[in-house]
Amino acid sequence: MCGIVGYIGEKDAYPIILKGLKRLEYRGYDSAGVAIYNGNEIEVCKTQGKVSTLEEKAAREISRVGTFGIGHTRWATHGEPNDINSHPHVSNNGELVIIHNGIIENYGSLKTELKKRGYTFYSDTDTEVLVNLIEDVQKNEGVKLGKAVQIALNQVVGAYAIAVIDKKKPNEIVVAKLGSPLAIGIGENEYFIASDASPFIEYTNKSIYLEDGEMGIIRLGREVRLRKIIDDKPIVPYVQELQLNLEQIEKGGFDHFMIKEIYEQPEVIIDTYRGRLLAKEGIVRLGGLEDHIEKFLNAQRIIIVACGTSWHAGLVAEYIFEELSRIPVEVEYASEFRYRNPIITEKDVVIAISQSGETADTLAAIKLAKSKGALVFGVCNVVGSSISRESHAGSYTHAGPEIGVASTKAFTTQITVLTMIGLRLAQAKGTISKSEFMRCLSELEMIPEKVEIALKTEDKIKEIAAVFMNAKNFLYLGRGYNFPVALEGALKLKEISYIHAEGYPAAEMKHGPIALIDEQMPVVVIAVESEHYDKVVSNIQEIKARKGKIIAVVSEGDTTVGEMADYVMEVPKTPEVLTPLVTTIPLQLLAYHIAVMLGRNVDQPRNLAKSVTVE
Ligand code: G6P
Repeated sequence: MCGIVGYIGEKDAYPIILKGLKRLEYRGYDSAGVAIYNGNEIEVCKTQGKVSTLEEKAAREISRVGTFGIGHTRWATHGEPNDINSHPHVSNNGELVIIHNGIIENYGSLKTELKKRGYTFYSDTDTEVLVNLIEDVQKNEGVKLGKAVQIALNQVVGAYAIAVIDKKKPNEIVVAKLGSPLAIGIGENEYFIASDASPFIEYTNKSIYLEDGEMGIIRLGREVRLRKIIDDKPIVPYVQELQLNLEQIEKGGFDHFMIKEIYEQPEVIIDTYRGRLLAKEGIVRLGGLEDHIEKFLNAQRIIIVACGTSWHAGLVAEYIFEELSRIPVEVEYASEFRYRNPIITEKDVVIAISQSGETADTLAAIKLAKSKGALVFGVCNVVGSSISRESHAGSYTHAGPEIGVASTKAFTTQITVLTMIGLRLAQAKGTISKSEFMRCLSELEMIPEKVEIALKTEDKIKEIAAVFMNAKNFLYLGRGYNFPVALEGALKLKEISYIHAEGYPAAEMKHGPIALIDEQMPVVVIAVESEHYDKVVSNIQEIKARKGKIIAVVSEGDTTVGEMADYVMEVPKTPEVLTPLVTTIPLQLLAYHIAVMLGRNVDQPRNLAKSVTVE
């Protein structure tokens, strides 16, 4: 995720763009930049860091005068956050300037081709490839900017929201969208463009939201023209009157970032496997892994280190890796690992999982592992973060910025990456049959749809939340792949509602927690179709016999548990190895609604921090 802004009109563009970028910082904040036409040339200023850093740099380096310009706040995907990789990017002839939110998957082959034609690349970004491709099309075909953008985009595979300006046409912005959001604000003799309406809501409430596959030519003094990128078919723009206020827009109309992020999961899971998982072709490839695959295959064991929710993702990975690829796995709290003189050798592979990439204990754990000669592989969300830099190799999740302190989309995207690693290792080791491998790939590809379906049960979950919001304790039970999900469900509830909750392996309940069960005790049981379904059913009977209240997460159409449980939350059927990706969803929603009903500060719960950079 990145934020993009543009202005063309009669006012000074720079202050509007700068303020707009600050409002879009929730979409990313590792670097920022602007390009302003000063009546003569386009002045570009960009820097690593937040928009406030850009503001200081721009005050020193550019005139900031002009009524036409674009700006960007970045969440790095290709190339670490630094000044050169920041947007805007300028084409080789210095005439075209672009900002981009998204990922160009085939940028590698396009870059090779453009290099052969004499183009030079200064950054590691996919975006710089696109702007030079547009220049190349303009040059070879002799077409105007809009047409050149269209022809170039038809060669591109990936996702984008882009805005392109041309020094020779200082009254026009060309925009296009596929997968990433883009809104056009229509004022009095002025136009705005942005990733959402927050940068322009104080100037106009009239907006056009581009649909996927559409592009627009925005020229001062005439109406916006929209076309289909693929076949040039004209589209009649639909101008909406916005009713939202600023805060609502930043949260995408949701009440809290947490619920917005819960709902982003289908999209960010796709972002995470995009270009890496090609189910029909039977390919799963993670760049960072391929370079070190031999080391993984020959590892005597994989040690996973992490904290909090990321540690739960690690536990899920333990089940997946051992089942699919038969490599022994140990999962450690980073804080324990680093202080207990662990036995690590060069034959070990250490995987560090971290949303922020800055958690102090995880960072210290990988430094220790490195010092003992192990290969360290990072699974981080924040590009260029300390853990990603400290690791020998790694794979990013593409969850976009997670603002809610309670982690949601980071967890499911971590599991997505870890599942892909497990499948790739199993394929390389020959521990999975071809048909099972193919089935897992296509099932993984269908997960976003299933998450979407699971999200539709929100109203029902709200009703359950209303029944149990005053409970003092909760127990969460699961087996196998869903034991870590039980831990994660309990953690979510604790973190944001302050209700005491414990996660337990369902069978282990008999060894203690069963003493807590009475008619006051809600017990959330994950009882989806699985190898151990009958065992879970027995555990439910044990709870019922002690009058506990059962809230069961079941597979669609389940009647056995349905009849025994007091309440059920249905999720679509899915192969057992992938169930954590769907069973997590109702537990996130349940915790969220209980916390809201209790009037808690959901996005910033007491005593917690999003990123724990102290021991
Ligand atoms: C904090 C956050 C949790 C997170 C944990 C690990 O406790 O509140 O949501 O799971 O840190 O953070 P990391 O960034 O390393 O995943």
